[in-house]
Amino acid sequence: MNSGPYNATKRPMSAVLTAFTVVACAMMAALGVQHQTKLVPGPAVNSHARPPQSQDCLDCHEVAEHFDSVPHAQTLRQSGDSEWQKWFVGQSFKAPEGTSTYHFFESGDGGLLCKNDFYPRPVSVDWLLGSGRHAITPVSTWTNSAGETELLELAVSWYPDQGLGLTLGHSAETLKNAVGIDRLGKRLTHGETLECFGCHSTWLPVNDGQIRFREVDPGVTCNRCHTEAAQHIESDGQLMPVGFSWSKLTPLESVNRCGNCHRRADQMTTDELTIDNHLLVRFASAAIVQSHCFLKQDASVDGSNERLDCLTCHDPHRPASTDPVFYSDQCRNCHDVDCSTESHCPELTLNSNCLPCHMPKSEIHPGLSFTDHWIRTRSESPNENPSDVDKGR
Ligand code: HEC
Ligand code: HEC
Ligand code: HEC
Ligand code: HEC
Ligand code: HEC
Ligand code: HEC
Ligand code: HEC
Repeated sequence: MNSGPYNATKRPMSAVLTAFTVVACAMMAALGVQHQTKLVPGPAVNSHARPPQSQDCLDCHEVAEHFDSVPHAQTLRQSGDSEWQKWFVGQSFKAPEGTSTYHFFESGDGGLLCKNDFYPRPVSVDWLLGSGRHAITPVSTWTNSAGETELLELAVSWYPDQGLGLTLGHSAETLKNAVGIDRLGKRLTHGETLECFGCHSTWLPVNDGQIRFREVDPGVTCNRCHTEAAQHIESDGQLMPVGFSWSKLTPLESVNRCGNCHRRADQMTTDELTIDNHLLVRFASAAIVQSHCFLKQDASVDGSNERLDCLTCHDPHRPASTDPVFYSDQCRNCHDVDCSTESHCPELTLNSNCLPCHMPKSEIHPGLSFTDHWIRTRSESPNENPSDVDKGR
């Protein structure tokens, strides 16, 4: 049966969580950040029994109807998915400093291949990570000599604004010095491979170190956030098991549950949790809990507007809004911004867009921007005109 760190029978929660933390480490290491780890219970992504899928909720919950098209659901796609190749087939990318050119083309059986001049054979792209809302990274998988699944994260990703570009964490310099298959991308260990798929899927069955790819439930869907949904269905919706319902969580517990993937503050050192660490913009959960809005909220009033957690501004069953008016309205629910009382007036009124000054976007890699969730006052001037509330972002 299953062995190693992913033995679900023995350590259903902590094994998965260790995995998450290690990957968070790996990713942060790639970004030049160090950090500390601490474990809390998380979703059982590699439980033995296959959890229910979103179709199983359709009969009773309307929210399941359109869920397949949200970024959470589309964040992992397998080769052969009807539209997945449009970003890559026939495209080429010349890495900076003339390191090499990457070509993507279709294989005879409808799969996707990637080739560059420094490695004799094309590699097959087996999965795409990322919905395409921000980026898509292709990966190739194989079985290592110990019989375990490993992956190659390709050095080239797709970005909505620019098409192909280098993958986050890869640089022309490292590629230039790489030999063999490392010219194509980064080989990850078995552990890192499980973590990578783990945050981007709902069920990841593993046998003797091999991911059973045919059975994977890709994307972040119902059972990933409402765990133990099987008991709920069997009881015709009467049972609400622990880990299933979000309604009784404190703001911090709620933010941290999203933070199991969006990175919790307790996974980082105090040095990393500073305004000088511009990479914190990638980690919404860790960033938002630094805000006075979060720390000084009056969350005792259940269900009132005064609660601040991720759900104040995001419905995880839908794509994130891109309307600054929508978000500024959430600010205005708590802040009575008025020319006579706010110090940053007079130019601004209640109708202004709060985001460019208090939650600006910043680019952490060419083509990849994130929104700073550490809501605060800043000295730098905004790079957008806050009065253009109608223009969208
Ligand atoms: C199992 C891991 C996981 C959990 C738990 C999770 N997310 Fe996500 N989330 C992701 C991934 C992966 C993406 C990237 C989706 C993509 O590829 O565009 C994402 C994307 C998002 C986005 C951006 C969507 C968009 O439209 O651009 C928002 C907002 C978000 N998550 C909010 C939440 C909130 C709120 C929670 C908690 C209720 C949560 N997430 C829990 C993994 C997770
Ligand atoms: C700890 C959980 C976690 C792990 C491990 C993880 N991701 Fe993600 N990934 C996320 C979350 C959350 C998002 C959405 C927010 C963000 O981008 O940070 C995301 C977003 C993405 C995106 C969309 C672009 C973007 O930045 O929004 C890509 C592509 C991606 N991940 C690829 C990977 C690859 C490849 C691996 C493994 C090598 C990996 N991820 C491992 C949680 C994770
Ligand atoms: C990324 C995490 C996440 C995913 C994936 C997710 N949910 Fe939810 N769901 C939540 C959170 C958080 C709440 C609490 C919302 C609130 O209190 O505003 C919630 C609330 C609900 C509710 C009760 C409130 C309501 O909106 O009616 C239902 C029913 C529900 N979800 C069903 C589903 C179904 C069905 C799926 C899959 C199609 C799903 N959820 C996927 C996080 C998630
Ligand atoms: C046989 C019908 C049925 C099925 C199937 C079903 N549910 Fe429910 N669900 C209910 C009922 C009934 C409630 C209670 C409704 C209420 O209190 O408004 C409920 C409530 C919920 C809630 C709210 C929990 C809370 O915080 O109060 C969530 C979340 C939820 N269901 C998720 C799911 C998910 C995810 C699935 C699929 C895996 C699913 N349900 C399948 C009937 C069902
Ligand atoms: C749930 C209520 C709530 C929401 C929503 C909210 N805030 Fe706050 N905010 C607060 C509280 C409470 C404080 C602390 C006030 C104090 O120190 O007395 C605060 C403080 C601030 C501060 C001062 C921060 C500092 O560093 O001293 C700014 C700026 C701010 N909020 C802007 C915003 C913006 C912009 C939004 C929307 C993106 C927003 N807030 C959303 C409750 C909220
Ligand atoms: C006060 C409102 C607010 C709250 C609360 C909030 N967000 Fe956001 N979030 C935003 C805004 C604004 C955007 C940018 C939307 C756009 O693309 O125009 C955003 C975008 C995102 C994205 C897409 C990537 C990015 O950075 O642009 C992710 C992922 C995300 N939020 C996750 C979360 C998570 C997880 C939480 C809880 C820890 C959370 N957000 C809480 C306002 C909020
Ligand atoms: C043009 C940039 C800009 C815009 C737009 C803006 N603010 Fe501010 N805001 C500031 C600056 C700068 C400060 C700090 C002023 C100071 O400390 O002297 C501030 C301070 C605050 C504070 C702290 C209380 C105070 O007066 O110091 C709150 C709360 C706040 N803003 C909320 C909002 C909200 C809500 C919106 C949207 C309706 C908004 N702001 C729009 C720049 C802006």
